[in-house]
Order: sequence, then structure tokens, then C-alpha cells
Amino acid sequence: MNESKALQSNSSIAHTDEVIIACEDGSFQKTGQKTRILRAEEAKQLSENQVLVSDFKQQKLEKEAQKNWDLFYKRNSTNFFKDRHWTTREFEELKACCKFADQKLTILEAGCGVGNCLFPLLEEDLNIFAYACDFSPRAVEYIKQNPLYDAKRCKVFQCDLTKDDLLENVPLESVDVVMLIFVLSAVHPEKMHLVLRNIYKVLKPGKYVLFRDYGLHDHAMLRFKSACKLGENFYVRQDGTRSYFFSDEFLAELFLSVGYEEMVNEYVFRETLNKKENLCVPRVFLQSKFRKPQK
Ligand SMILES: C[S@@+](CC[C@H](N)C(=O)[O-])C[C@H]1O[C@@H](n2cnc3c(N)ncnc32)[C@H](O)[C@@H]1O
Repeated sequence: MNESKALQSNSSIAHTDEVIIACEDGSFQKTGQKTRILRAEEAKQLSENQVLVSDFKQQKLEKEAQKNWDLFYKRNSTNFFKDRHWTTREFEELKACCKFADQKLTILEAGCGVGNCLFPLLEEDLNIFAYACDFSPRAVEYIKQNPLYDAKRCKVFQCDLTKDDLLENVPLESVDVVMLIFVLSAVHPEKMHLVLRNIYKVLKPGKYVLFRDYGLHDHAMLRFKSACKLGENFYVRQDGTRSYFFSDEFLAELFLSVGYEEMVNEYVFRETLNKKENLCVPRVFLQSKFRKPQK
């Protein structure tokens, strides 16, 4: 834990299994095994929001998933997501072993967007070689145009993780760490296992998938109005991009069904200030680590 410090849990909403961490931006985050308990009005709102988007519209959204993400990047260019400087704090596997100059860590960022995870990592650790892919051609192009992009340290390519074979761009069992950061939530739940199977092939035996994504009962889940619900814990935003909210059980079952082993699988709770509405909002993420078994 570099820039952060584990604290004693003294919050009134802390559970006994929680660890509280002070983050570099001054906020606090806790980890725990239990889902966030909803307030009565939140539970009521969720249970009332049961009408599903029609099958026809759902099929259209699935067909146009790539187009909708590409349009998202057309509108927002590289300005939407903040750089994610927390990845090495949260996942020690991302620190390359530098005992020997030729010891490199090979990573794959699956669904890399415009590089908000990728570039901070490459800057921080010179011993990393990164493969990175996304199905939005615009996002891939933004990465290539970034002044920090260096083809000697990084290979970025376009790929739909649910259907294009990663082996076309990444050698078999060559990757130490696959990062899935806020990506699986954008994939239809019935296709998530295809993504996990695809990355399984390029992972070295005994190596890891690092996962962070929206957790069940996150504030964003409660903000969806009626007519945005696609299925259980699955919603569509105004721009046609979709978001799933993960429970720890669902994720574990998904990874185990493909053959991975569970290492860590826990909720991360943060209180963040929504400056526009001057509101403190409860964010919930699921943060996990799964391993491809040793041969
Ligand atoms: C919320 S963004 C996260 C981007 C990046 N990982 C980050 O942390 O900033 C989700 C990304 O997943 C990509 N994506 C969604 N479905 C995908 C698929 N089937 N194959 C490849 N990329 C996909 C989208 O294009 C988008 O860039």
C-alpha cells in the first residue's frame, strides 16, 4: 500500500470484516464481504423499478453496442474518465519485479478505452509491456495518438472480446496480468463468459485477472429511472451504453465456471462528493482477483 494507509475501522457503518483505507485524494474507502444495505426508500425505489425494455429494443442495443461506445468516444474524446492512478495501490501484481533488468511484466488491458489505466501504469513502471484492446475504433485511435504511446512498450488493437480471438494479437499463454477495469459491466451478462474464455487462452498458467467494476447497490444503479432496466442488475444509459452491477456471488460463479480460481472477491465502498448536487453519494465497486490454475 504505497500512498495509502490502513486505518482502524471506527465508522458507524463499518462491518467487522472491513478495512478502511485513506486514499491519496483525501477520501476514504472500505472493503468488505457484505452487500451495501439499502435505506428503506432506496429498496422501495428498486423494487418498484421492474418494467423491462422491450425485446426488440434490447436486441438493437446488443447489435449496436460497439457503435454506441464509439459514439461515446466521439462525443467525449479523451475527457470523460479520470486517469486511474490507483491500480498499483490496489493490485500489487502490477508491480514488475525489477531485480533483473530483463525481467518484464506482460499485461493485457482488455477494454482499455482511451488509456486512463494504461498510461499511468506505463509511466509508473518502465518494466511493463502492455497489450491493450477495445472494440471502439475511435478509442484505439486516441491511444495511438497519445504522446505517451510507444510501440516498443505497448501494442494496441481493436477487438470485440466476445467474438474476436485474442490469439490473433497476443501469443498463447504469454500474459502475466489481465486487467478488466469497468469493462465486463458493459457486456451482456449472457456473453460475459466468452470474454473470460478469450482471456484465459492468453494468460500464463498460475497468473491473474484483476477486476474492478460496478458493485450491487452502487449509487449509479439507484439513479436509473424506470424504462432503463434490461434485466436483473442490468441497465441502459441514455446514450445506449449498458451497465451491469455485480454481486460477489455472480462474479465468482462466472469465473469459476470458466476454470479460474478465486483469490480475492470483495466490495469496495467509497463516499464521494457529487459537487454539482452537493451530495455525498455511496459508491460500491466489486474488486477481485482470479487465477488461471497452474498446470
Ligand atoms: C467504462 S469503459 C472503461 C475503459 C477503461 N478500462 C478504463 O478503465 O478507463 C468500458 C470500455 O469497454 C469497452 N467494451 C465494451 N464492450 C466491449 C467488448 N465486447 N469488447 C471490447 N471492448 C469492449 C468500451 O468500448 C469501453 O471503452
